[in-house]
Amino acid sequence: MGVLSGKKVIIAVTGSIAAYKSLLLVRQLKKEGCEVKVIMSPAASHFVSPLSFSTLSGEEVAIELFEGNSWNNHVEMGMWADVMVIAPATANTLAKAANGMCDNLVMAVYLSAKCPVVFCPAMDLDMYKHPATIANLNKIKSFGNHIIDAKYGELASGLVGEGRLAEPEEIVTYLGKFLSEAKVLSGKSFIVTAGPTFEALDPVRFIGNHSSGKMGVAIANRLAELGGNVTLILGPSSVNAFHSNVNVVRCVSADEMYVAAKEAYPGTSAVVFAAAVADYKPAFVADQKIKKSDAEFALSLVKNVDIAFELGKLKNNNTIHVGFALETENEEENATKKIHKKNFDFLVLNSLNDSGAGFKHDTNKIKIIDKNGVVTPFPLKSKDEVAADIVNALLAKL
Ligand code: PMT
Repeated sequence: MGVLSGKKVIIAVTGSIAAYKSLLLVRQLKKEGCEVKVIMSPAASHFVSPLSFSTLSGEEVAIELFEGNSWNNHVEMGMWADVMVIAPATANTLAKAANGMCDNLVMAVYLSAKCPVVFCPAMDLDMYKHPATIANLNKIKSFGNHIIDAKYGELASGLVGEGRLAEPEEIVTYLGKFLSEAKVLSGKSFIVTAGPTFEALDPVRFIGNHSSGKMGVAIANRLAELGGNVTLILGPSSVNAFHSNVNVVRCVSADEMYVAAKEAYPGTSAVVFAAAVADYKPAFVADQKIKKSDAEFALSLVKNVDIAFELGKLKNNNTIHVGFALETENEEENATKKIHKKNFDFLVLNSLNDSGAGFKHDTNKIKIIDKNGVVTPFPLKSKDEVAADIVNALLAKL
């Protein structure tokens, strides 16, 4: 029996010509032994007949919230499913999901779903590349949803480009992998530090750095996807994590990040120190805005608490500490020193010398260095994929 056997899957079909491929998807999931319920947006029913879906799934197809004198219980459907797959997900559906709109049954089930939701976009290439669609997809992903990217190829418009719905086989393979790994970290607690810290000079200015928090948030989401309970201690950053297993603790300074990390530490299985913490802070914080007077202004700084170092002193053999280092020179040598100094089990090195790596980007290029100095390099990948690599390395140690 395959991993999908017995799984309960909602296939939500929205209004795209690619809806015909969802018939094959339903058929393949049924062959794998899944229980499949199909819901459709009213627009989808113009492309493919609900009768075809009900014949293949063996279940009635729901389209409207209200049908005759009864209503389709979207909350119950959301609770029933092990996974909800929105395929095809149109640009309109993505826009609605990104903004929490609820004007049809598909959106109502999506908003009340307790299970993971997988979006499979399909649309014309210009719609797919539109900044609004890209922003919507990023927002949907930041809510902890999954995306199976649209593929390159010939589109219904006759144009060639990205926008084709992923093939049903690919979606089925993704679901099999995803559902089989779903809970390997359940019952375990994790701390992830992420983002920059801001060290106040006065009520107006601070010392900070360029960290966006994206890398740490991606790691927190990945740990949560695998069932872990994550405390994400996040410095001032515009990104956020919305997965229900992630408890976000906001902080501004290194001192605040340390207090939050120390409080969450007891009983933690692993800590990932992805934050870019300021090493120094102003010796004095002025109560009022510092006035411009002389031509020069000297700033006196004192060392900040080193969170990783301090927690490293509390670490026992059952807890894994993963460090990060962003270096610009003598990278591996400097990084290896940090492993021993801060009691890390392994360290993730990223370099500002690699384009697309480090701060801000949606991509990163890392090397994992272990305690014995063994270096494992990885190619440039999206931060979500890098997070999966780091969590895999962590899983091997747990
Ligand atoms: O947030 P993004 O834009 O996605 O960018 C991600 C990142 C580049 C910030 C991240 O991948 C990264 O490399 N973070 C570590 C940055 C760094 O330079 O760390 P460091 O060499 O100063 O410190 C080494 C380790 O000690 C780090 O794990 C750090 O979190 C930790 N540390 C450092 C100083 C301090 N006072 N407390 C700490 O816990």
